[in-house]
Amino acid sequence: NEGALWGARFASGPSPELAALSVSTHFDWVLAPYDIAGSHAHAKALAAAGYLTADEEQRMSAGLDRLREAVRDGTLRPRPNDEDVHGALEAALIAAVGPELGGKLRAGRSRNDQIATLVRMYLVDHAAVIARDVLRLIDAIVAQAEAHADAIMPGRTHLQHAQPVLLAHHLQAHAWPLVRDLERLRDWRARADASPYGSGALAGSTLGLDPALVAREVGLGRPTENSIDGTAARDVVAEFAYVAAQIGVDLSRFAEDIIVWNTREFSYVTLDDGFSTGSSIMPQKKNPDIAELARGKTGRLIGNLTGLLTMLKGLPLAYNRDLQEDKEPIFDSVQTLEVVLPAFAGMVATLRFDTERMRELAPAGFSLATDVAEWLVRRGIPFRDAHEISGALVRACEERGIGLEDVDDALLTAVSPHLGPEVRSVLTVEGSVASRSGVGGTARGRVDEQRAELVSR
Ligand code: ARG
Repeated sequence: NEGALWGARFASGPSPELAALSVSTHFDWVLAPYDIAGSHAHAKALAAAGYLTADEEQRMSAGLDRLREAVRDGTLRPRPNDEDVHGALEAALIAAVGPELGGKLRAGRSRNDQIATLVRMYLVDHAAVIARDVLRLIDAIVAQAEAHADAIMPGRTHLQHAQPVLLAHHLQAHAWPLVRDLERLRDWRARADASPYGSGALAGSTLGLDPALVAREVGLGRPTENSIDGTAARDVVAEFAYVAAQIGVDLSRFAEDIIVWNTREFSYVTLDDGFSTGSSIMPQKKNPDIAELARGKTGRLIGNLTGLLTMLKGLPLAYNRDLQEDKEPIFDSVQTLEVVLPAFAGMVATLRFDTERMRELAPAGFSLATDVAEWLVRRGIPFRDAHEISGALVRACEERGIGLEDVDDALLTAVSPHLGPEVRSVLTVEGSVASRSGVGGTARGRVDEQRAELVSR
């Protein structure tokens, strides 16, 4: 088995059945640039410890550079017999610098500490891309909120009309979870900031290589503290998968709003032609596919997290080959978010809102009833009684087929002597929204203040 990383103690090469099961180059090749960067760092550590002369290190480094170029331009690809990215690249290095020098690189490292390091390097890079994309989505939401700073819409609970709110307030409510997702990525980054390189297979190395040097070279803050943990732990991968799934869930909830707003019955929004799709049979159709794909792909993101945790739960220490199964789910989560987020941001940035229709529907469903009750409370009525009085007013309106904003003075006093004509100050959606001026409330000043805070994060 020419070019394999093992074999001497085996009488025969791997069976084709084993090879077919074991091979991972079709997915772990995306780690090739990281594998090469890790090898660069390891060569430095070997040289620093006296296992490579300055000339050897220089030739090794030049060989690795050639490999990196060949990976980048696609001329270096894994061969059918390569088991994984590590073996394929070692074989390529040996071909590039000769077996004598090429055969020295593997000293003091194992695929177990390599792979645990490479997956962190990969995720650190992609966390930055995903964070940038989340930030762009937040920017798109903030721009829409700013452009519609005074627009009023029906606020809902149980999908029923509840209380009027500012559209900006509602949009910003979709931005805050994304802000927390950015914080989660930052927190994750701090925990992921350790390099298992130097842990060897599980027990550490006898060669006196400097793991801090390798960590620095691969862009991680420190070496892992425990070589068994360093090679066996994948909580860093699972935590990343959780953050990815949470981003998916946050997008999915926003997507659901957009899908509903885009129905004929709601007609709150129009999607831009560039960010919606047509039907192959119904010529009139314009569909919110970006929102639906974001919602649908969230199922995969959750599945990836679930699959990872399930794979990990019964594993004894230290490395087990099961751990190879962390790659496809986490690569999939990364790739999924990297296509969903830009499309979603584009859809949000180009949404057109029918603010007149939203304003018109805002008072429907007696959405000002709480304002009546709280107006009474401000005049000293216990809330229990205020709730009763406001409920009676709603019933009286319902019987007459009118809205709360249509009551006349006679009806007010007939329902309760506590209800004077002054209550009309809160019987407009504008009055209602303006009066919710407590911290985090929907009054214009508070929403503006909140947006300033959002942008500063
Ligand atoms: N391809 C493996 C993985 O992704 C790394 C190789 C470790 N293999 C081994 N037999 N110890 O986890």
